[in-house]
Amino acid sequence: MKDAAATTSHDTVYLADYAPFGWTVEEVHLTFRLSPDATRVTSRIRFAPNPEGRQDRFFLHGEQLKLIEAKIDGAPVSPEVTPRGLTCDVPDAPFTWEAEVEIAPAQNFALEGLYMSNGMYCTQCEAEGFRKITYYPDRPDVMSTFTVRIEGDEKVKLANGNPVDSGAGFAEWHDPWPKPAYLFALVAGDLVNHPDSFTTRSGKQVELNIWVRPGDEDKCAFGMEALKKSMKWDEEVYGREYDLDIFNIVAVDDFNMGAMENKGLNIFNSSCVLASPETSTDANFERIEAIIAHEYFHNWTGNRITCRDWFQLCLKEGLTVFRDAQFTADMRSEPVKRIGDVIDLRARQFREDNGPLAHPVRPESFQEINNFYTATVYEKGAEVIGMLKRLVGDDEYYKALDLYFARHDGQACTIEDWLAVFEEATGRDLSQFKRWYSQAGTPRLHVTETWEDGTFTLHFRQETPATPGQPEKQPQVLPIEVGLIGPNGDEVVETTLLEMTEAEQSFAFTGLGARPVPSILRGFSAPVILQRETDNAERAFLMAHDTDPYNRWEAGRGLAKQALMRMIAGGAAPDEAYLGALHTLLSDETLDPAFRALAMALPSEDDLAQTLHESSMTPDPQRIWEKREEMRDAMARWMPDLLEKLFHAHQVPGTYQPDAGPAASRALANAALSLLTRLDGGEKARAQYASADNMTQQLAALSCLLSIDAAKGELAAFYDHWQADRLVIDKWFSLQVAYAKPAETAATAAALVEHPDFDMKNPNRFRAVFGALSMSPAGFHHASGAGYELLADWLLKLDPLNPQTTARMCAAFQTWRRFDADRQAMMKTQLERIGAQQDLSRDTSEMVSRILG
Ligand code: PHE
Ligand code: ZN
Repeated sequence: MKDAAATTSHDTVYLADYAPFGWTVEEVHLTFRLSPDATRVTSRIRFAPNPEGRQDRFFLHGEQLKLIEAKIDGAPVSPEVTPRGLTCDVPDAPFTWEAEVEIAPAQNFALEGLYMSNGMYCTQCEAEGFRKITYYPDRPDVMSTFTVRIEGDEKVKLANGNPVDSGAGFAEWHDPWPKPAYLFALVAGDLVNHPDSFTTRSGKQVELNIWVRPGDEDKCAFGMEALKKSMKWDEEVYGREYDLDIFNIVAVDDFNMGAMENKGLNIFNSSCVLASPETSTDANFERIEAIIAHEYFHNWTGNRITCRDWFQLCLKEGLTVFRDAQFTADMRSEPVKRIGDVIDLRARQFREDNGPLAHPVRPESFQEINNFYTATVYEKGAEVIGMLKRLVGDDEYYKALDLYFARHDGQACTIEDWLAVFEEATGRDLSQFKRWYSQAGTPRLHVTETWEDGTFTLHFRQETPATPGQPEKQPQVLPIEVGLIGPNGDEVVETTLLEMTEAEQSFAFTGLGARPVPSILRGFSAPVILQRETDNAERAFLMAHDTDPYNRWEAGRGLAKQALMRMIAGGAAPDEAYLGALHTLLSDETLDPAFRALAMALPSEDDLAQTLHESSMTPDPQRIWEKREEMRDAMARWMPDLLEKLFHAHQVPGTYQPDAGPAASRALANAALSLLTRLDGGEKARAQYASADNMTQQLAALSCLLSIDAAKGELAAFYDHWQADRLVIDKWFSLQVAYAKPAETAATAAALVEHPDFDMKNPNRFRAVFGALSMSPAGFHHASGAGYELLADWLLKLDPLNPQTTARMCAAFQTWRRFDADRQAMMKTQLERIGAQQDLSRDTSEMVSRILG
């Protein structure tokens, strides 16, 4: 009955099978004659036999293309065409390939290749979208220079590189830097620009533009400042200068991901670049600054040095995420950035690493590479770079990076190349360290302590649980930063880096006058789960005295987590020791308000479910939700005066500024407001909503009102006011789902998709509703199963249009084995229903079969 073939018929690609392409590409000329339903693309490509390549029959990738004609050295040829590409007999010498194909951008809802969004043409080629534009060796190790001619009536026509010519109905661009096809980009539309310029440190003038739809001009200034800061930072910190005359950013409404680093022509999801005080929150501003930096930094880590094959994705992504995190830490607060990143890593990467989708930072096989743009490749990939930097030290790190850029500029590289550079620059043997790239799973780090005659010894033991395809794990290199604090609260041993390489290893600190309290894994120096017997007295002590802000936060989080676990598992009352310690910390006016706002946030529902599962208990999402609510009520009742004080003291007067300072104050005041709302029936929130002159304050107030189910009027007013602003309306959709009571989450989402403004073809809108559903654990996992069924219904509807977004959202089901038998059965049923769909995409079928395991 069940169509097993649907989940197994797709080819698997293996890292071990890598072989260079049999030809090199010397240059590429492309002409686009744009038309929504019948764009003609002609290509002229110079190929030469590659002495290092494997001389298979000549094969070019190509999908969903209508081949009009093909020629070799001017003579027509008739290649053999399949749904995946074409093969052809070619001369045993350099030759010129010419082809003309027809494509239909207006029918392209997958948003890969050339597609249309609100009347504008744009492309997305990473990872394998270029093959939907023309026939080509669409693999990152084939690099070439591109010359592009665009013909059409659109006012603005952009491609990579520098502009070379333009006139009535055409524009020509030339990119002098050889690049793989995944970095190709083209944009055409009636766009307007926000112009600026940047002078590089060697004195070169670069023209900068952010291109947007008319009406969005006033939302570009912040992104432009972020771009200039990024350019300057990369010169100062990494010595990297920009290398073209022009750098263009384009905002597009329909986009599967956040943004794309195409050479000289970055394309952004409009939600990741457009910003204004009225329409964007502080969190939006910070994220936009980080993504602009990320894409810009790719110019060196990704474009000038690219990946040999898609297994090496972390080579560019891990490093670029690490670089953008450094940038944000420099622009804003380093500890606050680190704490935020750890929260995110635990929420997304640990979840992945501890379930059926676990894979190494460098995967060894895939069916659809789009499914490997994951938290593991990106965020764990960045953690691996951070560990490397800690191990070798800052000076050696930058020395190695200089060598990397000098040696590999213009090449398509591997993790082996990257590590070899570090080995050479630092003289270290990194063969064991390399396991971080090949072993999946989150290491557990167990710690015990002994104290004798002035010597304090830490005994560590590491183990990594089995993951799919990897039953046995070897010990990894763990950089463990430790400090010791004396009983009077003074630090007796400053941060020291312990380098653990064995399965079990001890480190002694001698000559101490009294038994210290250890502060272990400062700065979260390795992405592990720390397992250590401790008590609330010690946590409260660290919360008060630790000099490492990360561990100070972690101590508070440990207290909160313990308290919640006892409420969930044992029915305990909210822990007064926690409430007291929190009160003390929040009252400390020397502490950054952003840090205090983070300390006020409880561990997430998902974090608690993960922890229960880890302790062999079955999480009940409804109960977790209720106990978190109970705790928040208790927090509000415990410290009403302090909350009032924080709320008033941290109001920011004057014109809105998105900078870290005022944003931190707003974060603390709004965290206080959300608790106060439980006491005052929403009076303060309603007043804030009415007087807010920026989206941060408005949305915070609206969220408070939604949380007590008192937002009816505001919700309607919000819609009426923001109806024309699609990014704000995305917020309107997602908040309603996020704040629905668990029993109503699915019904709320189901009602919203009937709204005339719901458009399943727009990924932002789809995610606003269904992302919010899958990120509301109690609602999604409601015992009725309505959340599971609704999500599956809509994933099935979306798959034929947009496989990439469908597949990513299937990950909502990845935790299914954590739950009770009833929920497991319901989730399994939905996964099997998706898997059985006729013509299911390769993307979704791979995800479903991996999740089912
Ligand atoms: N390479 C992009 C980035 O990390 C992400 C991306 C992948 C965008 C695939 C589109 C498609 O910045
Ligand atoms: Zn990236």
